[in-house]
Amino acid sequence: MSRLTTTGSIGWALALAFLWLALSASPTHAQQAKLKVGLMLPYSGTYAALGNTITNGFKLAIQEQGGRLGGREIEYVAVDDESDPAKAPENANKLVKRDGVDVLVGTVHSGVALAMAKVARESDTLLIIPNAGAAELTGALCAPNVFRTSFTNWQPSYAMGKVMADRKIQTAVTLTWKYAAGLEAVAAFKESFEGGGGKVLKELTLPFPNVEFQPFLTEIASIKPDSVFVFFAGAGAVKFVKDYDAAGLRKTVPLYASGFLTDGTLEAQGDSAQGLLTTLHYADGLNTPKDNAFRAAYRKAYNAEPDVYAVQGYDSAQLLEVGLDAVKGDTNRRAEMIQAMESARIDSPRGVFTISKAHNPIQDIYLRKVEGRENRTQGVAIKALADPAHGCKAAGG
Ligand code: BEZ
Repeated sequence: MSRLTTTGSIGWALALAFLWLALSASPTHAQQAKLKVGLMLPYSGTYAALGNTITNGFKLAIQEQGGRLGGREIEYVAVDDESDPAKAPENANKLVKRDGVDVLVGTVHSGVALAMAKVARESDTLLIIPNAGAAELTGALCAPNVFRTSFTNWQPSYAMGKVMADRKIQTAVTLTWKYAAGLEAVAAFKESFEGGGGKVLKELTLPFPNVEFQPFLTEIASIKPDSVFVFFAGAGAVKFVKDYDAAGLRKTVPLYASGFLTDGTLEAQGDSAQGLLTTLHYADGLNTPKDNAFRAAYRKAYNAEPDVYAVQGYDSAQLLEVGLDAVKGDTNRRAEMIQAMESARIDSPRGVFTISKAHNPIQDIYLRKVEGRENRTQGVAIKALADPAHGCKAAGG
């Protein structure tokens, strides 16, 4: 009898141990498990600096929350996507299938982001895009699990076309890399510039990420337009601005661009960039409490000045925080999480922005002027600009 009782208590103890183990693996307990964030960004090549500052901004926002969002500790898995669309499906699949990330964050290059979004849609993984501006991501290919915290290629360039048309500039030649970002930026510029009475005389392109600009500068000099509009970013932008100045064009044919030309690049561009006018959703000298606090924190953490890419990384983490807080870290409550992210008002260093039905920021676009090492704000060029989101059914497009 007593042997039976002893066996019985061992049995109970075992049963309790099994129950505890089973509970540990249940969804309620899973809330305590780490949340894996897959950072797929360029850490080499032309856009390496952009990938690094996005990562810095993202991690800063998480650190400010004690390393946790929605009660869950954040763990990172990072992949260098090299801004190479051909490698993108394999890189994104590795993060989703091999590493089992809960959220994908990436990337900079539009072509790579389009491939990432395909993997995200097929695997139903939440994707937050901290830069790439391809229209389709929040247009024809918009999806409930795909959000962007940056811009569409249309937004900043449309604003610059309007600024230039308002200034009665008559003609322009455009030059950019021949891939989605550059082509969409030029199309947006042309839409507002020609809509406001200007004329694009010639659209020049070169393959990404080539930086042999000389033949194009010679052609621009022979066309003699009133202005030049370009899309370049990262290391390519540094070289372009220096080459444009060295060719003697800076003083004869005014250069305009979306702000990617001069953001995070001014140290390297030096005097060649002085006085350049650009349009972007961030600027130096905003002097708001939020931006001042962000800049101070970024400087303290990284001993460097933040740029637009750092802001976009920071805001990607802020958007994720809104979603995870709403469900107390339980990512199985996906619909509630998405709903919270859709109705978020992000208190960004750029200014407060909201999320459109297509999941893209509705935001102010600033006119900026290079002064010293800063892109000083000259005021808002277009207020609360929303992308047209062509083809996104959720947005009625
Ligand atoms: C893009 O590929 O979408 C992009 C890259 C750098 C800056 C802006 C846009």
